[in-house]
Amino acid sequence: MVRHRMVRRVDENCGGDVQGPSPTRPAGERHTLGDAETEAGPRAGGRLHIAATLPVLLKHLRHTRVVPRKNYFDEPVAARYDETSAEMFDPQVLDPAVDFLADLAGDGPALELGIGTGRIALPLAQHGVHVHGIDLSPAMIEQLRAKSGADAVTTTIGDIATATVEGTFALVYLVWNTIMNLTTQDEQVEVFRNAAAHLEPGGYFVVEVMVPDLQRLPPGETVRPFTVTPTRLGFDQYDIASQGLVSNHYWIDGDHVHVESQPFRYVWPSELDLMARIAGMTLHQRWGGWNREPFTGESTTHVSVWTKTE
Ligand SMILES: C[S@@+](CC[C@H](N)C(=O)[O-])C[C@H]1O[C@@H](n2cnc3c(N)ncnc32)[C@H](O)[C@@H]1O
Repeated sequence: MVRHRMVRRVDENCGGDVQGPSPTRPAGERHTLGDAETEAGPRAGGRLHIAATLPVLLKHLRHTRVVPRKNYFDEPVAARYDETSAEMFDPQVLDPAVDFLADLAGDGPALELGIGTGRIALPLAQHGVHVHGIDLSPAMIEQLRAKSGADAVTTTIGDIATATVEGTFALVYLVWNTIMNLTTQDEQVEVFRNAAAHLEPGGYFVVEVMVPDLQRLPPGETVRPFTVTPTRLGFDQYDIASQGLVSNHYWIDGDHVHVESQPFRYVWPSELDLMARIAGMTLHQRWGGWNREPFTGESTTHVSVWTKTE
């Protein structure tokens, strides 16, 4: 189970291209097939009238193909992020990650891609590492900026696949499955290129990400439920051909049923090595976790370190 896909949280997943409904708005606000039916008045004798519905569906498709990056971490999500991610702030989880990154940064500055509310960046700065962070979400950055110690961290709002900042860094890092928020292979490659472009020679790029959990998908199935209770339903839909994964969350809140979906692209360790090679980096270390657990066939996550060689 991917932690930051928020099996236990319904509304705190990372951004990606616009391909589906917003995970942060109630279902009633969304542009759905239901809307298409209503707008076109397409039901004839209780059956969907395709001719009437098609133009609306096409309009809907044109909408969903527009590509400005979607920010899944808007104001309401950002406001609750730390509270609902509390287990990720537990010192047992956080300290090994910060120590690991501080060791690699040494005296050099570090760049965090997808810095969020500063869960990692703020304690890393307390270790004496200057941290700069890039994030798509102004609301997440605002949360960070309001925290004590934030003066030691500088930030840029932008897309980690394309945004550039001044200078080079001893360490660039991207944690908690955030690479999966880039929903195409090309975009993930661009993140690697961008990371390498910001590294000094010999610098390190660190990624923490789940190992794709296809072994949990029964043969022939594309849907895997991860939460089934009287008030909550959560399931992942896999598209094996494209390595796509949409996490769907439905939950009952009083009289309302909330529906949220978010697209991801799962990615294999060996594929990441190839992306690193394309970007001029080679694998330095791969661990099964921040405590430098061995990476094995049983590992559900990995912390990989590449070094810039070109
Ligand atoms: C799960 S949060 C992780 C935040 C922080 N790194 C942490 O560990 O708590 C993912 C963060 O990445 C950001 N993000 C997702 N896709 C992004 C993109 N393409 N460019 C920049 N930031 C992105 C989100 O806005 C969010 O703040």
